[in-house]
Amino acid sequence: MKDVLHELEDRRSIARLGGGERRITAQHERGKLTARERLEVLLDEGSFEEFDMFAQHRCTDFGMAGKTIPGDGVVTGWGTINGRTVYVFAKDFTVFGGSLSEAHAQKMIKIQDMALRNRAPIIGLFDAGGARIQEGVAALGGYGEVFQRNVDASGVIPQISLIMGPCAGGDVYSPAMTDFIFMARDTSYMYVTGPDVVKTVTNETVTHEELGGASVHTTKSSIADGAFDNDVEALLEMRRLIDFLPASNTAELPEIDCYQSVDASDMSLDTLIPDNPNKPYDIKELIRKTCDEGDFFEIQPSFAGNIVTGFGRVEGRTVGVVANQPMVLAGVLDSDCSRKAARFVRFCDCFSIPIVTFVDVPGFLPGTAQEYGGLIKHGAKLLFAYAEATVPKVTVITRKAYGGAYVVMASKHLRGDINYAWPSAEIAVMGAKGAAEILYRGQDQETIEAHTKEYEARFANPFVAGERGYVDEVIYPHSTRRRVARALRLLRDKELDNPWKKHDNIPL
Ligand code: HXC
Repeated sequence: MKDVLHELEDRRSIARLGGGERRITAQHERGKLTARERLEVLLDEGSFEEFDMFAQHRCTDFGMAGKTIPGDGVVTGWGTINGRTVYVFAKDFTVFGGSLSEAHAQKMIKIQDMALRNRAPIIGLFDAGGARIQEGVAALGGYGEVFQRNVDASGVIPQISLIMGPCAGGDVYSPAMTDFIFMARDTSYMYVTGPDVVKTVTNETVTHEELGGASVHTTKSSIADGAFDNDVEALLEMRRLIDFLPASNTAELPEIDCYQSVDASDMSLDTLIPDNPNKPYDIKELIRKTCDEGDFFEIQPSFAGNIVTGFGRVEGRTVGVVANQPMVLAGVLDSDCSRKAARFVRFCDCFSIPIVTFVDVPGFLPGTAQEYGGLIKHGAKLLFAYAEATVPKVTVITRKAYGGAYVVMASKHLRGDINYAWPSAEIAVMGAKGAAEILYRGQDQETIEAHTKEYEARFANPFVAGERGYVDEVIYPHSTRRRVARALRLLRDKELDNPWKKHDNIPL
């Protein structure tokens, strides 16, 4: 018996060494942790249970016969984050560059199947060179099976990808189909084809970072939902994110202790809106003052800043927050921010996370760049997402709610459940000056100014909308947290179903 126990320990030690000391040192020298070190940071201490530690490839081509390393380039298993189960896989770059072989894919598939069957989130840590070049078609088939499972699990369990090194070729499409992608700054990059292929095909010279670094994917392509300075920070932030998410689309929202009373008034909010309606203010101040202890996990903070999206809690329960940001482009809706918010709203709806929307929107952004770029379709994505969402929807209009953008932003007309307005709200087809200029085109300046004032007096307030029931109540800004909390409490058992359909046809 003793011998077999020793053998087990020996085999485990070999497997834990992955590609060996030399490659582990190289990994550390690049500022990266190894796959197993990463899982230690991500999961509760001692909670990780590894599967398939001794799995090996069966390839014999291109000198691979006898060249096996237990685990075959990916560490898989499950553990807990603050006591809640998550399934994990972590690509091991020290083993064949983390590349995906048939055996490697089978390990991932096992974990994906278990996560879906047992209904818990799955987190993938990527640091890999794509398909195992020596294996050819077997690796391609493996990718296909991983992709199919990403799609099957979409909307059933949260799927999160963290890019912590190279992520190239076949490796990019699995993260692309998960709910969120985060990246480690400076040490990770993501692209379909690398700089060498780009040079050959398009004659462009680019670095890994310029082509697919965190700086690109968090600001330009919007592929990534956020970036962190190093492996440890990224992993700790994933723990924070998981705390906000339900385990599946049928699980209860996580509920944690709330140490901030919802009954206290925040008088500073009564002066948040500047006297001049064209002056910006920071909507994040209102978000933080509405959420428990000001804790807010922002999604895509560096992309399309004219809309803010992220998770917070009210009375200990998760909410998704969507808010126009007057500090960026006056909070206007454009293609980028519509896509960003639409995806976020749909995530919340998949997982029964109530949506709190703060509205201060002057309309849709005019111009050829927007129209040629498909503003109609992109704007429609957000409209569609809000309209199809059946989760509790609580809306607070703080200032402008103009035109189509008013309708889009979780208005009463799109089944908003509780729609509040601050006394500073202006709900109208458009701004007063623009309206007067159109209605009294060609008339002298004095007449236009007089009609601007008339339009302001008529519509630059929440009461006309209130008369029609388009806002449920005009509330004091200082009471916003309390009112939102009460509304969410009221809506806890909301039941609403869309008509049966195979699936909808959102304007992609
Ligand atoms: C097998 C690989 C590998 C791969 C890296 N390695 N990528 N082995 N298959 N795809 C091995 C290397 O041989 C090396 O082994 C070790 O991993 C580290 O690689 P390096 O090149 O030394 O590291 P680095 O300089 O950091 O470069 C990382 C890299 C580069 C940029 C990822 O390795 C690279 O370009 N790899 C190939 C990427 C690629 O073209 N993949 C195929 C994509 S096609 P040793 O023994 O020296 O440690 C694809 C199609 C799927 O994925 C489509 C599905 C739909």
